Amino acid sequence: MSEPFLIGDGMTGGYGKGPDILHDCTISVDKGEIAVIVGPNGAGKSTGMKAVFGMLNLNKGAVRLDGEDITKLSPQDRVAKGMGFVPQTHNIFTSMSVEENLEMGAFIRTDDFRDTIEQVYELFPILGDKRNQPAGELSGGQRQQVAVGRALMTKPTVLMLDEPTAGVSPIVMDELFDRIIEVARTGISILMVEQNARQALEIADKGYVLVQGRNRFTDTGQALLADPEVRKSFLGG
Ligand SMILES: Nc1ncnc2c1ncn2[C@@H]1O[C@H](COP(=O)(O)OP(=O)(O)OP(=O)(O)O)[C@@H](O)[C@H]1O
Ligand SMILES: [Mg+2]
Repeated sequence: MSEPFLIGDGMTGGYGKGPDILHDCTISVDKGEIAVIVGPNGAGKSTGMKAVFGMLNLNKGAVRLDGEDITKLSPQDRVAKGMGFVPQTHNIFTSMSVEENLEMGAFIRTDDFRDTIEQVYELFPILGDKRNQPAGELSGGQRQQVAVGRALMTKPTVLMLDEPTAGVSPIVMDELFDRIIEVARTGISILMVEQNARQALEIADKGYVLVQGRNRFTDTGQALLADPEVRKSFLGG
């Protein structure tokens, strides 16, 4: 059995010297797959993402990318290894233009990244139209596109998204999910936290239900959607 492309394996840890938030929590995603993390507010979904990205000191467990142990690497070193992360909040520079945000996203690149900017505009045409506008003037859905585009600028092999559809309309949510599927089809692994659990599990190859920092249910998206207990407790019936 080969191991998943990216795995946070048995992660236990919390913030600073505070109590553990994650307890033996395992999250993984395969190449080109979409993995979705759902669960109640405060369940530790964002904390799990931060742990995988190296923003948390783990007391136990490990993070491995393509078979390599990266547990001790800084977030910036993980970006250099091919990880992209869109945090839940403060994920764009509001006073900078759309294009400047994308340029900032390319911070570790020393080669010509013009082609990647054009690819982001192909994926999100509205960003091309608004390239010179301050990102803070864009709609919620468009700002999320800037955040995703910014993370794509390093040409990641795995893209981590913490609630990419927060606060957007159902139509914009569907649109964003379509773009995320498109990104996954190019071979990029997607690890995503979602509050719109039902819709996200529809497009998930694999789903995780986290509760109080622990894995509660793990299965394919379809199996979780069909599970009566998951439906009753986490999907509103
Ligand atoms: N920077 C922090 N320092 C200390 N504790 C934190 C910090 N961020 C989160 N926590 C705590 O960790 C626990 C899990 O929070 P986390 O943000 O990971 O949950 P979540 O599942 O992402 O919730 P939400 O659905 O609201 O985004 C909560 O008890 C929260 O208070
Ligand atoms: Mg969160």
